[in-house]
Amino acid sequence: MAKTIGVLTSGGDAPGMNAAVRAVTRAALAKGIKVYGILRGYNGLINGEVIELDSASVSGIIQRGGTCIYTARCLEFKTPEGVAKAKAKCDELGIEGIVVIGGDGSFRGAADLSAMGINCIGLPGTIDNDIQCTEYTIGFDTAMNTATEMIDKLRDTAQSHDRCTVVEVMGRNAGYIAVNVACAVGAEAVITLEEPYDLDMIIAEILEAKKHGKNHYIIVVAEGVGHSEEIAKTIGEKTGIESRATILGHVQRGGSPTVRDRVVATQMGCYAVELLEKGIGNRVVGMKNHQIYDVDIQEALSMKKPFQTDVYNAVNITAF
Ligand code: ADP
Ligand code: F6P
Repeated sequence: MAKTIGVLTSGGDAPGMNAAVRAVTRAALAKGIKVYGILRGYNGLINGEVIELDSASVSGIIQRGGTCIYTARCLEFKTPEGVAKAKAKCDELGIEGIVVIGGDGSFRGAADLSAMGINCIGLPGTIDNDIQCTEYTIGFDTAMNTATEMIDKLRDTAQSHDRCTVVEVMGRNAGYIAVNVACAVGAEAVITLEEPYDLDMIIAEILEAKKHGKNHYIIVVAEGVGHSEEIAKTIGEKTGIESRATILGHVQRGGSPTVRDRVVATQMGCYAVELLEKGIGNRVVGMKNHQIYDVDIQEALSMKKPFQTDVYNAVNITAF
């Protein structure tokens, strides 16, 4: 049974990471396990930037966006020397297990450290929902809600000016945010990397709708597709409708987490501590069929995740 564990957040931040840190801390303390907050991802482990967390130190953070233990990317940790330094720091501090909250890259690091004898448990924390082994990632719901709220505002101004707004949402190379948000805002089209698209067809549909009196259009583009400015320019030129591109950007990563993100983060945090308590490492906690489960890290990294083709189709069926 682990007597001392650490918790860190790594890669891009996501709303709900604080709720996960809180859950890990409180669940561990309840079992008599000492907890270190490792600051700025793997950097904190290499440099010994850690703070002991007690119950009060995670008070009042469940509703806050960002991560109170900071996050970063750490190139040195990708080298064997970096991992060795991190292992030495764990030994010095008596850290036997670590909960790593982040994405695939962070889990690769967690696998390396597990191989050195430090039990690591990955928790999926990213707004992109692009982690193969889980239906859901902490931060996804909040980011979708933020993007939806922003696009509703864009719709107001597009409507007032008879415009077409092309809006780019985050997701790195994944279209999960794009397709769900497009559905929620009633977009006229969604463009993602997962499905082929034909801009001329979208333009033809816009022109047809214009004939019937429609005066405003929202086209949601996934970040991985890029070219939002060019898409807006082409639509403008070919339809005669004034078009604008808006890239929502990092606003989607901030803000108070939704109920779903707080609850999932809390459940996953508690689950991770149970694994560490049993001396289990090299696992990722995920969600399958709406249930929390765990899977070997290497297996998790080799899994394939289906795209939400049903939601994509629903956007197109209801677009006009
Ligand atoms: P995410 O975890 O969101 O996928 P990154 O891919 O940027 O984000 O990874 C976050 C951090 O995880 C990196 O800065 C690095 O410290 C560590 N990491 C990423 N890939 C590896 C790897 N192949 N081996 C070891 N550590 C890695
Ligand atoms: O993974 C989360 C994410 O916000 C992606 O959607 C985006 O591609 C990337 O991180 C942006 O990273 P950075 O914060 O380094 O600009």
